[in-house]
Amino acid sequence: MTKMKRPIKEKIFRFCSALLTFLQFVFRNTGTEYGLTPLKRFKLARRIIANTQKVKSLSTWRQHLVLVEEILSVPAAVPGDVVECSCFNGASSVNLSLACALANRTLYICDSFEGLPDPEADEKFEVQGNSTNYYVWEKGEFSSEGGLAAVRRNVEQYGDVSVCKFVKGYFNESLPNLEAQHIVLVFEDADIASSVKDCLVNLWPKMTEGSKFYCHEPWSKKVVALFFDAGWWQANLGLDYPGFFGSGNGTVTGLGYSSMGYALKIDEEKIRETGTKGFHAGCQGFEA
Ligand SMILES: C[S@@+](CC[C@H](N)C(=O)[O-])C[C@H]1O[C@@H](n2cnc3c(N)ncnc32)[C@H](O)[C@@H]1O
Repeated sequence: MTKMKRPIKEKIFRFCSALLTFLQFVFRNTGTEYGLTPLKRFKLARRIIANTQKVKSLSTWRQHLVLVEEILSVPAAVPGDVVECSCFNGASSVNLSLACALANRTLYICDSFEGLPDPEADEKFEVQGNSTNYYVWEKGEFSSEGGLAAVRRNVEQYGDVSVCKFVKGYFNESLPNLEAQHIVLVFEDADIASSVKDCLVNLWPKMTEGSKFYCHEPWSKKVVALFFDAGWWQANLGLDYPGFFGSGNGTVTGLGYSSMGYALKIDEEKIRETGTKGFHAGCQGFEA
């Protein structure tokens, strides 16, 4: 009896959560600077949802709404492009391209289009977050079906290919030569820590202050640990580690979690000099 009820309850909860994500997207004032109204956001959200049904996707429309909202939240006065590292069949690219077209930014779609590179020995086996499942990554996994040409066709058909640049190759070879000079958002969905390292080394220095590096692996201990690895950040980027928001299940969206986290690029020295001293975040009850 209880077994029968649980899935229905869960379905209702999921539906309410998805509806809330949708409504938040429509009624928050995101993108007014780019001419968006609640009606235009409604139409955009509907198109984003439809697109994830047309192109096989390993990410969800709810995640795409979060990312689109981030792109549309960047003030027009801040120059820079959006970089997507890892597109599979291009479902996320399609929807990000719609936001980039509205915000007049270039979307760099970077992938081998031939799947994962050979995982390093110590990252091949991975326990999935707070569960008893494990996963074994394989070279060539998540290869784009039909290669770059098919991804381009998907973006042409459902997104806005006019703002897109396709960058083929493994990140350690392709990203050092990326044309983009200023980056306002990164969406990384590269699965394995060695690939994420290649993204960080090459993209972080070009990210503008206040921009976010979105990561699709908040559940991965190996990937999240990277954002707190002081030695690695000093050795590879000469910087203090940025930390990570949303480790575990991801940041909050709707009534649940996004399964995406992010690292925020800030200038701590500048904040020390020009910021305001306030209550520490754990003191909110006291403050109230
Ligand atoms: C999980 S899929 C991406 C899913 C996609 N974002 C979506 O929403 O459908 C992982 C992708 O990472 C790419 N990838 C991983 N590591 C890479 C690397 N070092 N260089 C190039 N591509 C890489 C694979 O080719 C694959 O397309």
